[in-house]
Amino acid sequence: MSKLIKFGPPLPQVEIPDSSLIPDWQQARPRAIARALERALARPHGHWYVVGESRLLGEQPQRHRIAGEDLVCWRVDGELLIAPDACPHMGASLAHSRVCEGKLICPWHALALGKEGYGAWKRYAVHEDGVLSWVRIGPEVPETPLPVLAPRPEIFLEGVVQLEVRCDPEDIIANRLDPWHGVHFHPYAFATLTVLDLDDDVLKVRVAKRLIGRVVAETDATFHSPEPRSIVMTIVEGEGKGSVVETHATPIEPGRTMVVEATLATSDRPGFRHARKLQRFIRPFIERSARRLWVDDAAYAERLSLLRSRR
Ligand code: FES
Ligand SMILES: [Fe+2]
Repeated sequence: MSKLIKFGPPLPQVEIPDSSLIPDWQQARPRAIARALERALARPHGHWYVVGESRLLGEQPQRHRIAGEDLVCWRVDGELLIAPDACPHMGASLAHSRVCEGKLICPWHALALGKEGYGAWKRYAVHEDGVLSWVRIGPEVPETPLPVLAPRPEIFLEGVVQLEVRCDPEDIIANRLDPWHGVHFHPYAFATLTVLDLDDDVLKVRVAKRLIGRVVAETDATFHSPEPRSIVMTIVEGEGKGSVVETHATPIEPGRTMVVEATLATSDRPGFRHARKLQRFIRPFIERSARRLWVDDAAYAERLSLLRSRR
């Protein structure tokens, strides 16, 4: 650690647990991970699923498969519409429909389908949270009329990555609930990682993230699951305090999951407010570093899934 050069504000002194001095494989607590996962999976979700990054869902119809359902998504005057991707007449896919006056024109026999629906063919409930779009597949639950989101920073620069992983959503959450793999599995990204606090709902770590060469940014971060298919890292101390990384795991069908990860980076440095103007230049950097970590973490989650399937 002494060879590292720290960038950013110093962190408050905290008691570093003695247990952090033993090797990570001895620190790692599989039972604690399993318990935290079980609690995450039991949280209310209101049947909401992340579809993807809102800005990528445009006027042209797109097909998405979520929780075993084929959906068609398109926008009319900016409003996102999501409906079953099967024409109510004879079942044609609507993903390649022409759009005329906001209606999908079925490619087989030209039935026009719009927001008012047609018999049993009805729109799904949709929510756009400013970065991501969500769909509700299932009955409305009064306690969760909207997706359960963690707090987000007021001003942020964002980057979103999406990738398909051959596992189930719980494997994605389990990966994020294991902090002890960070330094070994992603040595290019993290120089040190110490677990400061661990209970069944929130995990707190102190991490030195590599910036360039020996220069690191040291931060304290928490991980928690606001709902069963999401896990959120929040920087609570250090450079970028208030920034969040939301990892959402949307089931496509058993054994296939779409990971949608939104990084919302903020800073209390003067002038950050104006940094929004640089959004389009900074986005590729944010997304490149997230994607690199996900090459490893996808392999981790796929391995978990494989081991589970053999039990
Ligand atoms: S299948 Fe769509 S109009 Fe016939
Ligand atoms: Fe990881």
